[in-house]
Amino acid sequence: MAAVESAGELVIDRGEGIYVWDEQGRRYLDATASLWYCNVGYGREEIAEAVAEQIRRLAAYSTFGDVSNRPAIELAERVGALAPVPESKVFLTSGGSDSIDTAAKMTRRYWQLVGQTDRTLFITRESAYHGMHIAGTSLAGIEANAVGYGTLVGDVAKVAWDSPSALSEAIAFAGPDHVAAFFCEPVLGAGGVFAPPEGYLQEVRAICREAGVLFVADEVITGFGRVGDWFASSRWDLEPDLITCAKGITSGYLPMGAVIAAPWVAEPFWQEGAGLWRHGYTYAGHATVAAAGLANLDIMEREALPGRALALERELSEALATLAEHPLVEEVRAGTGVLAAVQLDTDAIAAEPGLPARAVAACREAGVLTRALATGALQVSPALVLDRAGMKELRTGIGAALDAL
Ligand SMILES: Cc1ncc(COP(=O)(O)O)c(C=O)c1O
Repeated sequence: MAAVESAGELVIDRGEGIYVWDEQGRRYLDATASLWYCNVGYGREEIAEAVAEQIRRLAAYSTFGDVSNRPAIELAERVGALAPVPESKVFLTSGGSDSIDTAAKMTRRYWQLVGQTDRTLFITRESAYHGMHIAGTSLAGIEANAVGYGTLVGDVAKVAWDSPSALSEAIAFAGPDHVAAFFCEPVLGAGGVFAPPEGYLQEVRAICREAGVLFVADEVITGFGRVGDWFASSRWDLEPDLITCAKGITSGYLPMGAVIAAPWVAEPFWQEGAGLWRHGYTYAGHATVAAAGLANLDIMEREALPGRALALERELSEALATLAEHPLVEEVRAGTGVLAAVQLDTDAIAAEPGLPARAVAACREAGVLTRALATGALQVSPALVLDRAGMKELRTGIGAALDAL
């Protein structure tokens, strides 16, 4: 707060494609698509039209009990059809943290419903980010995000982010009959953009299946095209029990999230005698937000943006690769869709903790808007409509910023 007070704030005023402008009229290439979400790029007229039309007709109506609205139904069906597991059910939320909270409750509730009431433990990966509600804070693998709040949700174990055997050991230690779910952020995002080691995701998926542990893929960043497929779970063929998502579902034009449940997870909730599941959010299934989501998915499908992200992944990693030669850069992590990070030298950060903030400021000076992730890496996750010229501009801007330091 004090830093912002002394340095002033950057007020973003408008956006078009991969660019945003501040209130002084300065243009920036938005290297982060805001907080990893503006997948279709800014300024899409057809989303604005869809939103305006829906607001005039019916801005919103609740989706509690047996009540619903058409855009919410259509969006749930559309997302269900895109889901990697056929016949999946979709629970709409208001964002990623809602989705995580919902998935945490849904997994424990599932085990209650099927009579395995001891299955309460959640396992999560170190360095993972699962949002800011209490469940997500409790699951946080980024330690700094979880400390300072007293007792959080109990029954959480954390395992090394890159080790399938660490997961096996944690399950064996707790006893498989006590483990409810493994929350897996397929590519660690806020933790610094770390792609899974080769084979990791398939292995941890198999370990969960073997132990009867529910596998929850947290695809809040990776969902809706960013990693070169509709979901990381589709790309790596994970057949998850649950997917949590948000961001790209509307490209952030309006806030929404979702939990996608495989039919076998949903089934006990539908059974005669299962009772009411007392869970839901006022704005879940908000009609106007759903209309924005539908228009957003129209664009993603028409422009084949998940495929475009896949096609861009090599070009992006080649474009950024030479930055690794810069003395202030330790490595460039790229090669998974339109998702990358330029890791600043950790010794240099240790010597000057303010270095990442200075690098971010220098990037702004050079016309590139980015931010520093947990490890002191610069986030690169622009809109999926990025083109060659944009990629070059991104590379040149970050390079110039580093030189200026
Ligand atoms: C992997 C992951 N999970 C959950 C969340 C929380 O989403 P939200 O900020 O929409 O609540 C985020 C947000 O960045 C995320 O990256």
